[in-house]
Amino acid sequence: MWVSCVAMARRARITGWGKALPQRVLTNFELEKMVDTTDEWIRTRTGISERRIAGPHESTFTLALRAARDAIEVADVAPAHIDLVMVCTFSPEFGGMPSTASLVQDALGATRAAAFDLNAACSGFVYGLAMAQASIAAGLHQTVLVIGAETMSRLVDWKDRATCVLFGDGAGAALLQGTDEPSGILSCVLGSDGSGGELLCVPGGGSRQPASLQTVQTAQHFIRMNGKEVYKFAVTTVPRACLDAVRRAELAVDDVDLFIPHQANIRIINSVSESLGVPAAKVFTNVDRYGNTSAASIPIALCEAVEQGRVHEGSKLLLAGFGGGLSWGAAALEWAVPVVTGAHTNGSTHLLHTDPRTGNSMDAPPPNGKD
Ligand code: ACO
Repeated sequence: MWVSCVAMARRARITGWGKALPQRVLTNFELEKMVDTTDEWIRTRTGISERRIAGPHESTFTLALRAARDAIEVADVAPAHIDLVMVCTFSPEFGGMPSTASLVQDALGATRAAAFDLNAACSGFVYGLAMAQASIAAGLHQTVLVIGAETMSRLVDWKDRATCVLFGDGAGAALLQGTDEPSGILSCVLGSDGSGGELLCVPGGGSRQPASLQTVQTAQHFIRMNGKEVYKFAVTTVPRACLDAVRRAELAVDDVDLFIPHQANIRIINSVSESLGVPAAKVFTNVDRYGNTSAASIPIALCEAVEQGRVHEGSKLLLAGFGGGLSWGAAALEWAVPVVTGAHTNGSTHLLHTDPRTGNSMDAPPPNGKD
């Protein structure tokens, strides 16, 4: 599935961003005491030095809410103006319902918003951006909150050294608003190959194997992964999806100012970047500090890239996710820096945006006549 937004009149533009990470840091040295591993093995095979682990009072919902609050504060949008809340996750707050997104919608006071969870594993955030773009372009929604949030530590078998060293917890969020300006999401490419589903799965707890004493005793509720096959899938599929997204955005790879890939493994990131011909200076990484936070990894990285001043007016960004499903997604964006003029008086947001061509400020269009 692909969506080319180049010819589309209405685009989704990121006007707010936020992230939430648990305070607790779990280092490789601590893991050495838990399973038969070494800091050296983990760093050389994955690039990870430490990860964050949710505390007893933290969960996918609390992390998602913190990231969401930051994003709507940056955008200076009143919660009542949000039309849709999406939480991209495969470690939701509850087993089935209510959705984590509904909990966030309620806690934010986003009283007008629809809400649902989206599960495309580590590709979730890119899928979420594509759905936000599609719904804004179709005129269904004007203001969409896309959150990637995971508590991987609750799905990891802490006795399995092959998986427990890889993952971490966290959340990242992006607020998207419709614009008729040329910047925003330029293209999205999404894909799935369900024949590889068993390479990355949590076997128990669904309709095939509902939770029982036996599923708990046989560790069916933890992540199972065939690392080698997932690695091969990632290094072949992700470059293709990226090239497709760049082409559909009518860009060349050289035009990309910053590549923000899913932070699963530094060797995968390096291999994909090399295949694409993107130099290391244009690749954002933080896998060393957070490990693989699944659907949260790209929005956390995007948020840090903005905070570190690596994203500017007119920057061309390339995002790429991959993971369970198997699934993958790539998106090309042109960044526009939102200039907020003041509080959301009368519940209506008033944003100024800088025209990327002239450098002049200009008003963003009103929120789809819904005021
Ligand atoms: N510490 C020490 N040794 C280990 C560890 C560990 N933590 N884990 C595995 N080993 C051992 C294995 O047992 C094996 O030993 P053996 O040769 O005696 O059998 C040896 O190290 C090599 O194991 P491999 O699995 O071949 O190691 P590899 O180089 O493939 O690296 C890794 C493993 C890091 C998991 C890699 O395959 C990988 O990154 N795959 C992609 C995983 C990924 O990105 N998954 C996330 C997808 S996102 C989502 O949707 C959840």
